[in-house]
Amino acid sequence: MMKATAKAHTNIALIKYWGKRDEELILPTNSSLSLTLDGFHTTTTVDFREELREDRFTLDDTEITGDAYQRVSGFLHRIRLLAGKRELYADVRSVNEVPTAAGFASSASGFAALAAAGSRAIGLSLNDQELSRLTRQGSGSASRSIYGGFAEWQMGEKPDGSDSHAVPIAPIDHWDIRVAAVVLSSTQKDVSSRAGMKRTVETSPFYSGWLDSIPRDMEEIKSGIAAKDFEKVGQVAEANCLKMHATTLGAHPPFTYWHDTTMAVMQKVREMRAAGIPAYFTIDAGPNVKVLYLPEQEKQVEETLRSIPGVTDVRLSKSGKGVQYL
Ligand code: PMV
Repeated sequence: MMKATAKAHTNIALIKYWGKRDEELILPTNSSLSLTLDGFHTTTTVDFREELREDRFTLDDTEITGDAYQRVSGFLHRIRLLAGKRELYADVRSVNEVPTAAGFASSASGFAALAAAGSRAIGLSLNDQELSRLTRQGSGSASRSIYGGFAEWQMGEKPDGSDSHAVPIAPIDHWDIRVAAVVLSSTQKDVSSRAGMKRTVETSPFYSGWLDSIPRDMEEIKSGIAAKDFEKVGQVAEANCLKMHATTLGAHPPFTYWHDTTMAVMQKVREMRAAGIPAYFTIDAGPNVKVLYLPEQEKQVEETLRSIPGVTDVRLSKSGKGVQYL
């Protein structure tokens, strides 16, 4: 039987991946670091069968066609090539527990689960590093979801991408740090992460400043994680997020992912800090805000965030596990 099931969680970047040096292999221009989250996951079964003449992809019981199908089938093709089985097609069934409204790219948990289930189903036995490298070629941020807790995607320097994969930084039980995903009433985003990073790399005069700042941020956040220094980790993550978003304002044409409620949440987080509640924000390629906090402050943080006009929901999450086979 050439069938396997895997479950993977999404992750939130504290040092952002923002820019590709190779679009085809998905090689980044900077290293990134994230926390895997237990609240949001995708479970995927891949079943390779001799009688199939093409791949099939079902997401939450809906048969998928078009671009999303092409992306999945294209990725399965990489797995086929790795295994030397070019003519073997699969039936893929995914169940997503990543609320798109919460602004998480389901691509992170989606491609991590697909890579794990697909590679196992076809008979490859990949170690975590090899699996991360494969996953990267489906979605960059997904390469970090192979590991639980904190993970770093090391950008690497080789043109073939063989040294571009994630590594574990601290396991899930190292530190109970939490994330509130703040859901906004209007979550429309006009520029995909793919298009946004491309435009920024090609046109923003601030992009080189972004790149220059990464090694220092990376060093600082890693020492903060090792020492469980929440202020330090929060400060570096928040500042890194602001720098990433600043590059978009310098792009041509300029753009921003922020809405008015995005800024209201950012302001509220700063007010919490002024009132003695340690909390820090980070924002991906969309208007939603994620807030980092410690378990002691959970109740206060949740209540405060829920009270902001324009906020429709707040989803709390702990640190999550890496890829699991079911
Ligand atoms: O891997 P993608 O295409 O979903 O891009 C992710 C980009 C950010 O979410 C903005 C940052 C990150 O590192 O996750």
